[in-house]
Amino acid sequence: MLDNIKSYYKTEHGIMLCANSLEIMKDITSGSINLIMTSPPFGLVRKKEYGNVEANEYLNWFKDFAKEFYRILSDNGSLVIDIGGTWNKGLPTKNLYNFKLLIMLCEEFNFNLAQDYYWWNPSKLPTPAEWVNVRRIRVKDAINNIWWLSKSPYPKASNKRVLQPYSASMEELLKNGYIAKKRPSGHDISDKFSHNNGGSIPPNLIAIPNTESNSSYIRYCRNNGIAPHPARYPSELPEYFVRMLTDEGDIVLDPFAGSCVTGEVCERLNRKWICCELIEEYLQGAVGRFQEINQQVIRENITYSINKPGTMWDTATEGILPYDGGKKRLINQV
Ligand SMILES: C[S@@+](CC[C@H](N)C(=O)[O-])C[C@H]1O[C@@H](n2cnc3c(N)ncnc32)[C@H](O)[C@@H]1O
Repeated sequence: MLDNIKSYYKTEHGIMLCANSLEIMKDITSGSINLIMTSPPFGLVRKKEYGNVEANEYLNWFKDFAKEFYRILSDNGSLVIDIGGTWNKGLPTKNLYNFKLLIMLCEEFNFNLAQDYYWWNPSKLPTPAEWVNVRRIRVKDAINNIWWLSKSPYPKASNKRVLQPYSASMEELLKNGYIAKKRPSGHDISDKFSHNNGGSIPPNLIAIPNTESNSSYIRYCRNNGIAPHPARYPSELPEYFVRMLTDEGDIVLDPFAGSCVTGEVCERLNRKWICCELIEEYLQGAVGRFQEINQQVIRENITYSINKPGTMWDTATEGILPYDGGKKRLINQV
């Protein structure tokens, strides 16, 4: 497999290719990939520098990739796609392309939706400014969809790989015990609830700020006069799915690799990896990720919180809603 393909860079576990992944996948054996972990170019109404596809043409563009993804994935493998939404041009409404992609992959290409995840970036700035900051008719858009898809309804997976620390109240409960009783909803909470499973099972909302500014990758780019990739995902995002869905020695493909974050994570976790990227400059920077693989990543225990709505609700000061839904800017809105 990939014997006749020229690599851009190789490591102990992986290979970086500067090529169109559609071409490369033709050379990948059917059923040989355990996980496809990727963030494709998002469908945008305003193009980014690496040539994103127009949201309206997105499904057509994706079809050839979808066919190959299905063919090369192992029967118990997973396809995980990080995809951001986009706004319709000049309007405070969202394009549906990310949802249509999910429906197409399941209905036309036979994938199962193993689970829908949401990646919340707590450091996201309030955008789009016109609707959020100026006219105040929408809220901050801070979520990406993560579609976890699989060929079988039972892809190999274990949530034990992604446990989180128990909350203080749960720790207390584990220490003092729990009196089994029925909840008001009728659910019977048995005494198994107070069993210590080593950590709490996380929800399908992943909170990771996308704020990398002083990593060895950024320093390598800076020292070598290379522009860092403009749309990187944080390493914890692929790491979460690589840990939950693959074992050591499994093969992970990132067909839209950008700066090879996926490859870096796999190298550290002893997974084999193939990263494919069209633009050479992104790979020049990506090489910096493999100069020194740090096995001892220091993980801080950080909790991000969102207030339960209501703390600031005040009927007396809320005023009236814009009668036209914010279609016209008000005089004092700048
Ligand atoms: C959203 S970025 C991925 C960023 C990456 N996850 C990271 O964190 O660095 C999508 C990448 O896909 C690349 N790309 C688009 N079409 C491609 C293709 N047919 N084959 C390989 N790469 C492609 C783009 O050049 C872009 O760098």
